[in-house]
Amino acid sequence: MDLQLVLDEGRRRADEALERLLPPETQYPPSIHRAMRHSVFAGGKRLRPILCMEAARAVAHSLPSGVEDLGAALEMLHTYSLIHDDLPALDNDDLRRGRPTCHKAFGEATAILAGDALQTYAYEVMARLGCPADARVRIIEEVAHGTGTIEGMIGGQVMDLEAEHAKPDPATLEYIHQSKTAALITAALVSGGIYAGGNTADISKLRAFGRAVGLAFQIVDDVLDVTQSSEQLGKTAGKDSATEKLTYPALFGIEESLQKADALVAAGCSHLDNFGERASTLKQLAAFLVQRKS
Ligand code: IPE
Ligand code: IPE
Ligand code: MG
Ligand code: MG
Ligand code: MG
Repeated sequence: MDLQLVLDEGRRRADEALERLLPPETQYPPSIHRAMRHSVFAGGKRLRPILCMEAARAVAHSLPSGVEDLGAALEMLHTYSLIHDDLPALDNDDLRRGRPTCHKAFGEATAILAGDALQTYAYEVMARLGCPADARVRIIEEVAHGTGTIEGMIGGQVMDLEAEHAKPDPATLEYIHQSKTAALITAALVSGGIYAGGNTADISKLRAFGRAVGLAFQIVDDVLDVTQSSEQLGKTAGKDSATEKLTYPALFGIEESLQKADALVAAGCSHLDNFGERASTLKQLAAFLVQRKS
C-alpha cells in the first residue's frame, strides 16, 4: 500500500474518531473543552493512532472495526503529554503544532487541567472499546504502564528534566528516550495487536519492533531540533541545546545519531520478518519515522 495513502487515511480516521469522541466546545464547562480541542486539533501527525491501526491490520489481515477509537485514546494521551511537556515548569515552550501552546492560549491552570482531562477521558474511551473484555483490560494495563513511572512516559519525563545540565551519560540518555517516547509508541503497537486478537508471539514481535523504532523516533526528534526551523517543526527549534538537554546529537553528533536511528529501524523491522507481506506497511512506517522532516 502506498505510504502517503496510509498516512493520509490514518490521520483522517484518527481525526474523525477524535472529533466524534471529544466533548464539543459548547459542552459545559466550555473553557476546558476549548483548551482540549485547541491542542488536539492543532495538526499533529497522528503517528501513534496510525501505528496502532496498522499493527492491528497486520495481525488481523484487515482493519478491525472500532480500532480507530483506541487510536484516538492514544492520541489524547500523547496530546496530554505534550501539553504538560510545554508547561513553564517543564520545557517552557510557547509554540506547539504551529499554534500557541495550551498554557499560552488558556493559562497554566486550564492547561494543566486540560492535560489531566485528556488523560482521564482516554481511559473512559478505552473502557468502552469494541473488543472482548479481557483484551480491553490488557490494553488498559499496557497503556497505563507505558505512560507511567516505571520505564514509561512519566518516568522518562522526570529523568529528562533531572538530566538537564548534567554530565552526558549514554545509559541515562537511552533510558530517558526509551521511557519518555518509545514506551507510548510501543504501547500503541502492542495495544493494536491485542485489539486485533494477536497471540503471544505476535505481541512480543510488535513490542520488540516498538522499542527499537520508538527509540529511533526520539533520536530523530532530537536531530530535527538542531537541523530544522521552528516554522518547519511547528515548535521552537534549537530548544534542546539552549536548555542543555541530554540528547543524541549533543552526545554523539548528528551523523552518528542518524546512523543509530537507521540501525534501530533495521533491527526493529527484522523482528517483523515472520509476519511476511503483512508487515510491509509497518516497515514502511518505520522508515518514514526516521526520514521525516517535521
Ligand atoms: C513529539 O511527538 C513529541 C515526542 C514524543 C518526540 P510528534 O512528533 O509525534 O508530535 P505531533 O503529534 O506530530 O505533534
Ligand atoms: C517529549 O520530548 C516527550 C514527551 C513525553 C512529550 P521533547 O520535549 O523532546 O518533545 P518536543 O520536542 O517538545 O516535542
Ligand atoms: Mg521534554
Ligand atoms: Mg519539549
Ligand atoms: Mg524534542
